[in-house]
Amino acid sequence: MDPRSRPQIEAWLRYFDDLGLGPFYLDRAAVELPAVGAGGSEGGSRRGVRPPLRSRVEQTGPPPPVTAQSAARGARAQDVALPVLPSLFNAAPRVEGDTLERIREDIGDCKRCRLCEARNKIVFGDGNARAELVFIGEGPGHDEDVQGLPFVGRAGKLLTQMIEAMGLRREEVYICNIVKCRPPENRQPERDEVATCSPFLDRQLAVIRPKVVVCLGNVAAQTLLGTNKSISQFRGQWFEFRGSKLLATYHPAYLLRTPSAKSEVWKDLKNVMAELGLKPPKPRPKAG
Ligand code: URA
Repeated sequence: MDPRSRPQIEAWLRYFDDLGLGPFYLDRAAVELPAVGAGGSEGGSRRGVRPPLRSRVEQTGPPPPVTAQSAARGARAQDVALPVLPSLFNAAPRVEGDTLERIREDIGDCKRCRLCEARNKIVFGDGNARAELVFIGEGPGHDEDVQGLPFVGRAGKLLTQMIEAMGLRREEVYICNIVKCRPPENRQPERDEVATCSPFLDRQLAVIRPKVVVCLGNVAAQTLLGTNKSISQFRGQWFEFRGSKLLATYHPAYLLRTPSAKSEVWKDLKNVMAELGLKPPKPRPKAG
């Protein structure tokens, strides 16, 4: 194995682990591994393995981490800039007087990418159109596809608990995903699917103009920040993202598999609360 490929393979394995897919096996004959970092050929998607996601920030360079504030909140001092890569997050042209309703109408009965073939319902997003806080996941799963709402399955219930632990109600925030249709077998969305869907997410964020965007998991974080680094390398750091502060934390599906990571996520959420001026909810009195 080319040692330069190792970090990339590790990033993929971490990602699949994050999603709770457990061990997966590489078909050696079918896989062409991309070189790591900018300038490497990304190759095509192969069975079970896909090239890293990339996004718009890459073109101009990633936003600088908000190091002074991060440090004040106890974030790691060695906050680093992320690598500069080509875009996947397609910015949409600004629409005068845009609204969430209009964006939903523009999506229509979308057939822009192959995800339409197996989906049941388009999962547009849900919550407060004026939310200060937006959570972005990867893409709908089975329950979301059935109900047409984001994060309503097991991971969604955990996300709701996390939001409530922050002293907020779910209806007060906005929740959406990188892609709006369920990828078959819950596979990771492909680069072209993300690129096709991202102008709508871009417009949603432009309408909501949240103070804080929290990316849940690798796909959301890598797409918005334009990096192929694993989330574990920049989780909990602050970035500027189009007028919002952006922080990436682990996906609730990962927490279901790895409860020990909950404390790190809670640390991140406390930083988000500080950014939004939210006080931690009072501990409930012990019974008896
Ligand atoms: N996982 C996601 O990333 N999004 C959902 O909506 C549900 C599960």
